[in-house]
Amino acid sequence: MYVLGIETSCDETAASVVRDGREILSNVVTSSLGEHKKYGGIIPEVAFRKQIDTIDGIVDCSLKEAGLGLRDIDLIAVTCGPGLAGSLLVGISFAKALSFAGKIPLLGVNHLESHLYSALLNASRPRPPFVALVVSGGHTSLFYVRDFKRIEALGATHDDACGEAFDKVAKILGLGYPGGPAVEKAARNGDGRRIKFSCSNTEAPLDFSFSGVKTAVLYYVKRHGLKDLADIAASFQEAVVNTLVKKSLAACRHKQAKALVIGGGVAANKRLRQALIRQASLEGVKVYLPAAGLCTDNAAMVAGLAFHLFKKGRCSGLELNPQLN
Ligand code: KG4
Ligand code: ZN
Repeated sequence: MYVLGIETSCDETAASVVRDGREILSNVVTSSLGEHKKYGGIIPEVAFRKQIDTIDGIVDCSLKEAGLGLRDIDLIAVTCGPGLAGSLLVGISFAKALSFAGKIPLLGVNHLESHLYSALLNASRPRPPFVALVVSGGHTSLFYVRDFKRIEALGATHDDACGEAFDKVAKILGLGYPGGPAVEKAARNGDGRRIKFSCSNTEAPLDFSFSGVKTAVLYYVKRHGLKDLADIAASFQEAVVNTLVKKSLAACRHKQAKALVIGGGVAANKRLRQALIRQASLEGVKVYLPAAGLCTDNAAMVAGLAFHLFKKGRCSGLELNPQLN
């Protein structure tokens, strides 16, 4: 079964063809990120104007790369939320038009759930049930996946998302946008134990809070300046990694799960990947990480997840609209 996935929830315009929820035949992504850099964050109007211009070509390119035509596609899957309203509308409207013109079933897919599917596009992947951590620019959530139709929320951030904290700290450190890769690069030459940063505790043990550690970095820089930039970046990264590892493994213990799946842009962070694998192995938990190119927004994860949901009877009508929360 060939699924065409479309993803336009934030700054990317992406399309992908995936066969049987597993084999990626094409994965095309373009981004307006360069155009947002001078503003230090995403400007929704800039994002969706670019998506209107590019979506046609990106979908066409993904079909050509897969060596298929629209008539070969069995399902059109599209991110329906959460995300930026205008951006989501571009993808959803385009997907509806293709579905209507080609008489092809349509399925709207949740963005967070598709992020956690990206690690399941690997050759080695777990079968549900498993615990999943989604760490992106907009969300930080822990889930228990019983099966793809029954995903239970275990915890979420109270304030900033994890990627957002990386972006804000990068701004404080003058490292530019997007912040995650820039902080990781700066941290490479630093000592992560030099400055004692830590993430705030939350009342519910599987929730997260990142705004306190971001403010601690701000006060440190106000007091000491930027002369220890590498150590500040490394110590901030260490605090975030520690809390993500600790809470993910606590969720595994709580659910007696032996598999942990990670998704979202922050899953590209090498320090997080190493720390998770090492700590989890001590507790007999196997970690499943997305391939590097599948951590940030892409449409292969949308098409992959949609295959399973469609098999379980899910389908959308032409009344599909953005689901913003
Ligand atoms: O999943 P994603 O592409 O978009 C959302 O759905 O939000 O995630 C983007 C976020 C940004 O905040 C970015 O700074 C962060 O992921 N990110 C990273 C790294 N690469 C991207 N954070 C830490 N380390 C990285 N290597
Ligand atoms: Zn995302």
